[in-house]
Amino acid sequence: MCGIVAYLGNREAYPILIEGLRKLEYRGYDSAGVALMQGNTIQMYKKKGRVDELDSYCASKDRHGNAGIAHTRWATHGEPNEENAHPHVSEDGTIALIHNGIIENYLSLKKGLLAEGVTFKSETDTEVLVHLIRRVQEKEQVSLPDAVMLALSMVEGTYALAILSVDDPDQLVVAKKGSPLLIGTEGNEFFVASDGAPIVGFTQDVVYLDDGDVGVLRLGQPIKIKNINDEQHLLKRPSFHKLELTLEQLEKGGFDTFMLKEIFEQPKAVRDSMRGRINLKKDVVSLGGIIEYEQKMLNAKRFIIVACGTSWHAGLVAEYIFESLVRVPVEVEYASEFRYRNPIIHEDDVLIAISQSGETADTLAAVEIGKKHGATVIGICNVVGSTLARETMAGSYTHAGPEIGVASTKAFTAQVTVLALMALSLAKKKGTISKSEYHKLISDLETIPEKISQVLEQEQHIQRIAQYVATRPNALFLGRGVNYPVALEGALKLKEISYIHAEGYPAAEIKHGPIALVDNTMPVIVIATEQETYDKVVSNVQEIIARKGTIISVVTEGDTAVKKMSKFCIEIPKTEELLTPLVASVPLQLLAYHVAVIRDCDVDKPRNLAKSVSVE
Ligand code: G6P
Repeated sequence: MCGIVAYLGNREAYPILIEGLRKLEYRGYDSAGVALMQGNTIQMYKKKGRVDELDSYCASKDRHGNAGIAHTRWATHGEPNEENAHPHVSEDGTIALIHNGIIENYLSLKKGLLAEGVTFKSETDTEVLVHLIRRVQEKEQVSLPDAVMLALSMVEGTYALAILSVDDPDQLVVAKKGSPLLIGTEGNEFFVASDGAPIVGFTQDVVYLDDGDVGVLRLGQPIKIKNINDEQHLLKRPSFHKLELTLEQLEKGGFDTFMLKEIFEQPKAVRDSMRGRINLKKDVVSLGGIIEYEQKMLNAKRFIIVACGTSWHAGLVAEYIFESLVRVPVEVEYASEFRYRNPIIHEDDVLIAISQSGETADTLAAVEIGKKHGATVIGICNVVGSTLARETMAGSYTHAGPEIGVASTKAFTAQVTVLALMALSLAKKKGTISKSEYHKLISDLETIPEKISQVLEQEQHIQRIAQYVATRPNALFLGRGVNYPVALEGALKLKEISYIHAEGYPAAEIKHGPIALVDNTMPVIVIATEQETYDKVVSNVQEIIARKGTIISVVTEGDTAVKKMSKFCIEIPKTEELLTPLVASVPLQLLAYHVAVIRDCDVDKPRNLAKSVSVE
């Protein structure tokens, strides 16, 4: 939700900022803006729409300046237009600010500022910050960093901020609470961004700010950080980390879109998520990141999985795998619901938070609740150094590589892989799995990348099916058991990128309502792979045929019963039932992708969405 970039150094800031915004556009793309320090004035350009529109608009403008801040927006308060686009400036034009997050008490702060005669230009929550900081500075006669510290102590909500002031053109002030912010340094230059993507081409050395940190960056001086929660406001020693990211990973690599590239990267992503964690010869699975808390996991009375979106679907798959192998009850919760329903959590619960970005606000809030109640809190995430990775007690990275398409694909299969490894390792140590079952499952896991490759070879066939689905206004996705979350994920992929209304259901449940929607115009996508309930799924398919629904099926190679009843059929290699989602979800990703392309949708940046949902 909103991406921010800032630069201070001796190069022209504009090209660095605009390229940085392009790399962060997945975080929001309603409007974009940039402010440049030109001598002792701040020059600002803003545009509704994408970063490219801002760049074209700026082409004829004066873009020089060695310091600047830039923002790409996902609107929370106020419609996407130029007034509401960031940066926002103080009334006297001396301070410019960009913000990612939400100021929850903005209405009361705004009321106070209005009473003091401040005029607001936008409907945003952010604008209160710039006026508040300026007011504090004037009243208290303090420096900008001190004014920021004081102002932020009055603020409730979340923020990542970068602030320029004409009073000190060689300085950039940054602050963080609840939204991500990194500072990269190289020689006499500072690069600030919401994630590592805009920074990696310039330096690998970064500092991740902690909540409450306010950083002061000045030309020729080291980074100075204080924390607003430290009453003495002592200087903190910045802790440097290496960015685990390459520029190549941030490019489309010959594919038309990031999403297609990421779908095709899945054999590698799944392999990378298993690398070093399975030793087939010794029949051993181990996840280094959780060793310290393994005993707690082995003693757990219950697993609570919290996540949002596609990561929640990975959690649902894990429920089947964990309960079947580890024999401990599992609850899977939407983090956004969990955080507000006063959940019952015990000290012998293990809370597993799953998040691709590691920055989803609701998931992070659920983690805090788990910690507060004394549960063991484990994270599964993709982005190295993300807030989730730092806020959980232990965890495992998925190692899927950067995922840029807004619709999640390879992160999902990598999450399921890591969760399966976790369950296998715990089950073996608890003695809840037989040797042969254990061996069968880890051997099958090893073959998953190859099976995904075989599914990807069917792209043209799936494209033909997409021609049909693209003409329909609705679609139903059905599955049973471990394929039920696959149906949910298939429906989510279709609706989020092609805007076709789609619903996922457990196949047997359609009799309780959705079957009323079935007629000869309704495509029903059924996952009917080899599983314990296969015969039941066959009956469900018959019920749909009887109502003239059109069956599109995903079946195991060699299937005859469901294939015969299908208008279109996608065959996938035979896979152990519990691991089927790793293979069965791939054709549904390709189907959604091609439907969206046929319908001329912006696949990588679907309307109204953003990849990293760092606001509630
Ligand atoms: C957004 C993205 C989804 C993602 C969800 C959760 O809605 O568009 O693709 O599944 O957030 O994100 P997370 O980073 O926590 O997995």
